[in-house]
Amino acid sequence: MTYTFSNKIGNLAPSAIREILKATSQPGIIPFAAGNPAPEAFPVRAVREISARLLEERPVDCLQYGITEGYAPLRARVREDIHNRLRIGADFDDLIITSGAQQVADLATKALCNEGDVVIAESPSFIGALNTFRSYGARLRGVPLQPDGMDVDALDGILRTEKNVRFIYTIPNYQNPSGVTMSEAKRRRVYELARQYGVLILEDNPYGELRYEGEALPCIKSLDTDGIVIYAGSFSKILSPGLRVGYALAPAPLIAKMTVGKQVSDVHTPIFNQIIVDEWMMNYDVAAHVREICAIYTAKRNVMCDGLAGTVLQYQRPAGGLFLWCELPEGINMLDYARRAVEKKVAVVPGVAFTVEQGDPINAVRLNFSTPTDEQLAEGVEILRELDT
Ligand SMILES: Cc1ncc(COP(=O)(O)O)c(C=O)c1O
Repeated sequence: MTYTFSNKIGNLAPSAIREILKATSQPGIIPFAAGNPAPEAFPVRAVREISARLLEERPVDCLQYGITEGYAPLRARVREDIHNRLRIGADFDDLIITSGAQQVADLATKALCNEGDVVIAESPSFIGALNTFRSYGARLRGVPLQPDGMDVDALDGILRTEKNVRFIYTIPNYQNPSGVTMSEAKRRRVYELARQYGVLILEDNPYGELRYEGEALPCIKSLDTDGIVIYAGSFSKILSPGLRVGYALAPAPLIAKMTVGKQVSDVHTPIFNQIIVDEWMMNYDVAAHVREICAIYTAKRNVMCDGLAGTVLQYQRPAGGLFLWCELPEGINMLDYARRAVEKKVAVVPGVAFTVEQGDPINAVRLNFSTPTDEQLAEGVEILRELDT
């Protein structure tokens, strides 16, 4: 049988990261390619206690269908939490629980983009979101990243010339893959440009709480007096990616359409998982947990950054998040470098995986410091040092 696939999916190359992750799962490979939380960062005891008690006391609540918008107590709790912590959520906003932040990108695109519409993204950017946009036939335009966030003049240029731009996709905090944090001035400018040109912003913030130094900067959503920002949050990086619980905060008419889109995708996010998250937020010290995992990741980041100092890899020490973006000098090709690293049993991701438009001038590799154990970190860094020679 020859299978004929839709245009939507047929043109999508398998994620280069997934391909490399296949190599990562081979025994003996040091996983600098992944983006998983550290095994020691999961609040296992809390989740075990909560699950056991829920199944004992409220089994039917946990196992029954729920509503598409999400478990009502969790929706209310998240709204309150992000209002208090991040100063986001206006009267015109609504919030739904999603299956991770990934689903926010999916639902926003489903709700807003026709084939050929334009989505603007930082280049490089998160491949999961880029592939979502591509899968709906969106045309991607990349804005080069600078050390303090996207090049806002280039953004202005694209907005001036492109018709049918539906939204600007940005990861302002500890961007994946670059680790870059957008300055406050640029956040304000991106918001103003979006307002001026009448386009929406999709602000993706899964790493915001993983801050290892510096002050927290205001979310773009906190500037949103005009109802133009869709905010994507996630419990993946602070609690568990396997639970698949995230959320979208956006103006109510957008959320209404995204909810219809979710209904036909997965009906609702697993209710048991939502209740676990709700109980965790209600009964455990989430802030203390976040401080603990930040301490773990700060140490891992330092080992990686300090260990790679003086090598061919040029990087800016990320103030948070999980990734180190390493530029390579002219004369060292990222694909060759990634191949040589894998041969020596260190998996890294060549930067080409994160390009937005074909031919974006990227010659870099992305390293992740959260997944490897401390021993693997030390060994992997040593191997990469030896690759130089
Ligand atoms: C920038 C960014 N957005 C979204 C996601 C997806 O996260 P979730 O597990 O919440 O779907 C990731 C995961 O790595 C990410 O890096």
